[in-house]
Amino acid sequence: MKTVGVIGAGVMGSGISQVLAQSGLEVVIYDISEASLENSRKTIEKNLTKLVEKEKMDVENKEKILKRLHTSNEKQDLKKCQLIIEAATENMEIKKKIIQGLADIINENTILATNTSSLSITEISSVAKYPSNVIGMHFFNPVPVMKLVEVITGIQTDPKVKEIILELSKKAGKTPVLVEEAPGFVVNRILVPMINEAIGVLADGVATAHDIDEAMKLGANHPIGPLALGDLIGLDVTLAIMETLLEEFGDSKYRPHPLLKKMVRAGYLGRKTGRGFFQY
Ligand code: CAA
Repeated sequence: MKTVGVIGAGVMGSGISQVLAQSGLEVVIYDISEASLENSRKTIEKNLTKLVEKEKMDVENKEKILKRLHTSNEKQDLKKCQLIIEAATENMEIKKKIIQGLADIINENTILATNTSSLSITEISSVAKYPSNVIGMHFFNPVPVMKLVEVITGIQTDPKVKEIILELSKKAGKTPVLVEEAPGFVVNRILVPMINEAIGVLADGVATAHDIDEAMKLGANHPIGPLALGDLIGLDVTLAIMETLLEEFGDSKYRPHPLLKKMVRAGYLGRKTGRGFFQY
């Protein structure tokens, strides 16, 4: 594998592009928005500069990595990619539209991976030209730091595709965990209900946002508290995952807390909007 395409130049798409370019691959980041592409390049450059400042990377290597990163708003530029990773909005219809829209630029060997955080790989692959080439490749935020990649197989995923993606994840410096498709996979099925519960604790007036997070940091050894983590993930994404869990399992234990819904309705989405449970 030489060239990988990444669809979506948001936080996840940028992080994924950075680690893949760092592992020696040519990367084409595709987005319809020029501004997002420019932002993405700037973020990656800033991250690499930090590594140079910390003497974890030399300037020459940084320049080489940046040369391997290509941004484009022309879908045709993805034609040369052996793997295309979709990292767009967490919405089934949007993801299906993207996968469907790739039919004319892929061939029977192109692997399509989706960075969905909880949606069905089988359903996403149902609209692909070659469903057996579709797989889940779920990275964690911030991608350059977090070691895990969940590699998720749908009902039709070819075992050869699974092996290639497990190998690629390791090459990108990540530790893959193999997951049989199930709602929320492994991490989000456990993590997101915990964040939802923390929101309930806040809404019940049990403790302040600061103290809830302090309690979980000091009492459970979490690197950041659950409310700050919700803000990092994005409260819209957190809500979307709870809704998927509720719909798929039909179990009321996955009901999104009304305060989470209220925050999203207000546009308080966390870090990306400057306000969530905390101010940024
Ligand atoms: N990009 C690149 N590097 C970053 C970064 C970013 N956005 N944020 C932090 N870092 C680096 C820092 O440069 C620093 O590097 P060095 O050790 O080389 O100096 C290192 O990470 C630690 O950062 P800080 O000292 O600034 O801050 P910290 O100690 O609080 O660590 C953190 C930051 C690693 C993000 C930590 O807060 C943490 O682990 N948070 C939890 C993250 C988490 O749980 N993510 C998963 C979310 S769930 C998800 O993503 C899946 C989903 O589908 C919703």
